[in-house]
Amino acid sequence: MGGILNSSIARKVAMALSGLFLVLFLLQHFIINFTSVLSAESFNEISHFMGTNFIVQFLIQPILIFGVILHFVLGIVLEYRNRSARPINYVRFNGSANSSWMSRNMIYTGLVVLAFLGLHFYDFWVPEIVHKYVESHPEDPTRYYHETVAKFESPVRTGLYVLSFILLSLHLYHGFSSSFQSMGWANKYAKGLRGFTVAYAILIPLGFIFIALYHYFNNV
Ligand code: HEM
Repeated sequence: MGGILNSSIARKVAMALSGLFLVLFLLQHFIINFTSVLSAESFNEISHFMGTNFIVQFLIQPILIFGVILHFVLGIVLEYRNRSARPINYVRFNGSANSSWMSRNMIYTGLVVLAFLGLHFYDFWVPEIVHKYVESHPEDPTRYYHETVAKFESPVRTGLYVLSFILLSLHLYHGFSSSFQSMGWANKYAKGLRGFTVAYAILIPLGFIFIALYHYFNNV
């Protein structure tokens, strides 16, 4: 980890790779969650598989958590180094002339996503770990749908989720396409790639907003 933290190129590449990995995670997370809108049985079946499969639980999940931690630690280091390398914050004077709002505020949109993950882990991941490994309840493959939907009874929590998804969209809008540049993959397909990353940054968070609002209005 020391090597990554001290070399700026290694930091950029690790940031890009962990970001691309999280983009892939987000897509599969979206697809699984979207089944909760289509069919409670399918959602229960898939969630039960994901929650009890040995490879998912003890290989993929630790890699995912490592990826999340690596991405936000590197993001904070990157921001800190950028600020200390530039004691006079000249970009502020004419920021919008040479960069987008999204690219200048990655640290803030990223911190909101991090705060959302805190709430999200408290809502889903912690109760799941307690249920399975602390209280050791017998397996019930039908519980996932009701547990998930119940989280969207509160208008405040649903509002916080929706707000976080909007900031996630702004974060992805710059981050997804910039990860390809950091990897040196900006080539003749760059324009098409940019279009794809922008579509992803808008459509996936919009899809998450739809799921949250769908369950909220189904609950009232
Ligand atoms: C309406 C939107 C969402 C719903 C309904 C939802 C639901 C869930 C559920 C049911 C779990 C499973 C907990 C478990 O069994 O371990 C989970 C885990 C997780 N979610 Fe979400 N999620 C949503 C959006 C998001 C977003 C936008 C992100 C990322 C920015 C995210 C990141 C995670 C992570 C990192 C985990 C932990 C995965 C694991 O290791 O189990 N979720 N979510």
